[in-house]
Amino acid sequence: MDRAGQYRDVKAEIESVVAGETYAPARYASAACLLAEAFSPRFFWTGFYVVDPNKPNELVVGPYQGTLGCLRIPFGKGVCGTSAAQQATIVVPDVHAFPGHIACDSRTNSEIVVPVFDASVTLAAWLDIDCEQRDAFDEVDRSGLEAVCSILLTA
Ligand code: SME
Repeated sequence: MDRAGQYRDVKAEIESVVAGETYAPARYASAACLLAEAFSPRFFWTGFYVVDPNKPNELVVGPYQGTLGCLRIPFGKGVCGTSAAQQATIVVPDVHAFPGHIACDSRTNSEIVVPVFDASVTLAAWLDIDCEQRDAFDEVDRSGLEAVCSILLTA
């Protein structure tokens, strides 16, 4: 199966697993698990950063699969914080060339960060996926992961 087909399948699986579940961390944890499993071993770190309701200018780590992630990222810092500030997906072919990249694990060489919007189109979280290979993410990954994020809004 091609990668676009894999994304279609994993999206359908996530949709079915989280149907009716209103607790956001349970939805994010299930998505992180199924994405990491579907794209193992290519996805080295798969998980979410969420807006901290007590510190609205910071992202805090949420459910993930992989090695230890940094706990907090200020808005505007790193790839996640830049995506938060720009409210857009960011594909980074070489993290070493991204100004301000936050290295949680030195084995990471490329990264994609996709925003998750809630029902009132407010930013709720970011899906962050890291790979050991450089230039691992293309338009198929971008559209596949954006489609997955579009179904993660709290039910
Ligand atoms: N590299 C990210 C930080 C999170 S980790 O990759 C898990 C960034 O620069 O935002």
